[in-house]
Amino acid sequence: MSKPWAVILAAGEGTRMKSAIPKVLHRICGQPMIRYVTEAVAPLVEEQLVVIGHGGELVQSELGDAVSYAWQKQQLGTGHALMQSLSLLPARGETLVLCGDTPLLRTATLQELIRQKRESDAVILTAEPPETEGYGRIVRNSKGEVLRIVEEKEADPAEKKIGEVNTGCYIFSNELLHQYLPLLDNNNAKGEYYLTDLIMLLVDRGYKVTACRLEDYREAQGVNDRLQLSFAAGIVRKRINEKLMKEGVTIIDPESTYIDLGVEIGADTTIYPQTVIEGKSKLGSGCVVGPAAHLMDALLEDNVVCRASVLWECSVASGAQIGPFAYLRPGTKIGPGVKIGDFVEIKNSYIGDNSKVPHLAYVGDATVGPGVNLGAGTIVVNYDGRKKHRTIIEEGAFVGCNSNLIAPLTVGRGSFIAAGSTVTRDVPPEALLLARTPEEIKKGVAPYLLGNKSKKEKEKKKEKGV
Ligand code: UD1
Ligand code: MG
Repeated sequence: MSKPWAVILAAGEGTRMKSAIPKVLHRICGQPMIRYVTEAVAPLVEEQLVVIGHGGELVQSELGDAVSYAWQKQQLGTGHALMQSLSLLPARGETLVLCGDTPLLRTATLQELIRQKRESDAVILTAEPPETEGYGRIVRNSKGEVLRIVEEKEADPAEKKIGEVNTGCYIFSNELLHQYLPLLDNNNAKGEYYLTDLIMLLVDRGYKVTACRLEDYREAQGVNDRLQLSFAAGIVRKRINEKLMKEGVTIIDPESTYIDLGVEIGADTTIYPQTVIEGKSKLGSGCVVGPAAHLMDALLEDNVVCRASVLWECSVASGAQIGPFAYLRPGTKIGPGVKIGDFVEIKNSYIGDNSKVPHLAYVGDATVGPGVNLGAGTIVVNYDGRKKHRTIIEEGAFVGCNSNLIAPLTVGRGSFIAAGSTVTRDVPPEALLLARTPEEIKKGVAPYLLGNKSKKEKEKKKEKGV
């Protein structure tokens, strides 16, 4: 038998999100929520059709050509949304219908729905959450057969007590969709075409509709507001952390560790609490990250130590140590064995093997060779108010504390810059550069400056009994 198709309803505005962004594009662990749906269903279906409307162009640019699209110009309800896909659906076969706002559904669950469809004309995925408010309820007859779905707004007090709810996920025979979907009307409390009414329409005509009940109700959690968004994110986060731990990553406190979907981490890496790893970050094995590290699109090779620092679009080679309190900005490449210490900011620079920038420095637009030492307070002055310039610091150079290197500049191999120098010219290899104002010593002046001189003299006189 050929694979089913999938239609994902994603045209709604998501009024309850109170947002300028279409609901299905709100992010959960770095990915728009609709992507969780398209990825869960992808292995099971022939083709995916996404019904778009509100913010449709944005949804299209996010999902690209991996799926096809049907437009719903006016959002007249879930039934109306599915009608917009009919002209694209094959006449035969079957179709999974999913909502773009249920990001927690798993592939295995959808597979079970497809399996159960072999014994019926349509299957509804249902759940029994502790809180049923807002969901459509599944009405069954005395034999336990599904009769219809009643929406919250239409439900009478007895129906509201029903614990089994509609997850918004179904599978139908295409023939039935083509024949009966156009018969839906909007005579209901919301004046919308409810997809849920299709169930009663089919049951009344003698078709067999069954329900496939979820074991874990949380998989069906719809995201309609920001509270549900954070609930869903909590579950996805837990899934990501558990997967990584099973793959050999130590996460000291999964509750306070936030890792985006798609982040790769090697075995025997340890993540300390209060750490956030986002985007396309990739970490090797044997690293120690955190506490309180924030990595965004950062690449760490093996055995990197990174404490309480922010790393953003940068790479760190094996054995390097970063932090605490370092800030690595885009375009930065840290070589193997390098030490970047506290209160150091590095931007768009390369730091060569085993070099040290241990404290209180700014390095911008620089290429630093291997074995270089940049003392505390070194500032690479890369910006003249109009343009950025590059600085080259060659192998083995020693830059003393509190030096300003005014770019463009080359500091030669093995040279030595005396502490406190402001350097404006290239430094030849192996040269000493000393650029300080000469010191002066004026003996006995300090007491006058401190206002103590006359007081001291008085005391002396007293001692002498004068
Ligand atoms: C829907 C179901 C409800 C079920 C719940 C599960 C209906 C009438 N109700 O309610 O039984 O318990 O999902 O989460 O189907 N959409 C469109 N076009 C529209 C309206 C909605 O594409 O005109 C899309 C939305 O973008 C969303 C999905 O359909 O992805 C569900 O719509 P939503 O408004 O969230 O329906 P619920 O009130 O949650
Ligand atoms: Mg919903």
